[in-house]
Amino acid sequence: MLSNAQKTRLGADFAVFKMFPNFWTPVLPVSEVGRVPVAVELAGESIVLYRSPVDEFAAFLDRCPHRGAPLSRGQVLEDGCLQCPYHGWQFASDGACTHVPFNALNSDQRSKLSVVSFPTRVIAGMLWIFTGTENALEPQLPPSLLEPNDRYIIHHEIWNAHWTRAIDISLDYLHIPFVHRNSFGSEFHDPAHQDAIAQISVTATANGMAVTNQLNTLPDGIEIDWHQPNQVVLKLDLGGMPLRPHLFAIPINSQQMRFMQVVLPNPGIDRSNFDFDEFFAASLDDRIMAESQIGEIPNTNEGCNVPTDEPSLRFRRWYYRTVKHKRIEAIQWRSDRHLY
Ligand code: FES
Ligand SMILES: [Fe+2]
Repeated sequence: MLSNAQKTRLGADFAVFKMFPNFWTPVLPVSEVGRVPVAVELAGESIVLYRSPVDEFAAFLDRCPHRGAPLSRGQVLEDGCLQCPYHGWQFASDGACTHVPFNALNSDQRSKLSVVSFPTRVIAGMLWIFTGTENALEPQLPPSLLEPNDRYIIHHEIWNAHWTRAIDISLDYLHIPFVHRNSFGSEFHDPAHQDAIAQISVTATANGMAVTNQLNTLPDGIEIDWHQPNQVVLKLDLGGMPLRPHLFAIPINSQQMRFMQVVLPNPGIDRSNFDFDEFFAASLDDRIMAESQIGEIPNTNEGCNVPTDEPSLRFRRWYYRTVKHKRIEAIQWRSDRHLY
């Protein structure tokens, strides 16, 4: 939460993560965040992440409140504070300024010098951030993300696509025969399925939806769950695969995202008996399709839709109401200020 001093300093119109505000999202595997500060871009903001010597994690705006130097070029000290590279101000993991060299400041004065910080959690082997400064409720998680951190196998890569494109394709059963026609989608081209009809049923859940997908010519299908805002869970293990992938589309900016695959293998499955790299590589087909689409997903009144688009339509409706609505308001309000 911003302090009163920060509100005064940053202005009443200060807002962060405007393209993705007030959500919990993973940022990186926790194994990639150590004592050397890491700079990442998340939803259009430059963020610094680091781990203290006692394994506490911190996430700040990567901008020192003094002269705006990137704190990611600073150092993590033995006491877990991050020291700015420019004039050596020090910040604790909650963003509080703890030391200003060569100035005799009392704690009240220092309390006005804190850096903007964000809540963090370590869940399922990933470092998560809350993309806001007010009222972070605890993240809503599927039970399959509550196992010990070392059970998860994680792969991530940057896609040149808007994050909504990756959620849209991940929710979409009927891209498989075409986008993945040269791999696991080939079975759909068996003549037995030539006149198949897809049965796709959507059930609203507390924070998203559960979608069952099946061709009427196949004995079973798969369940795909969406968890707001940016997570899709493929319940492949219900269909006999030995793992459950969780797919995250993490916004970097309006043109890029990080696609993070977080796999929970069934007991007894590990790298010695399963080719995880081959599994992760299957998403290359999805990446090529997502990167071929310009900008964010269209609103529900754009383009043509058919009954099997229901999962996509529900996600798009949510996105335009919940995320875009806020952004549109913010842009209008800012331009008013600019005019006057
Ligand atoms: S810019 Fe960070 S201490 Fe001066
Ligand atoms: Fe796919």
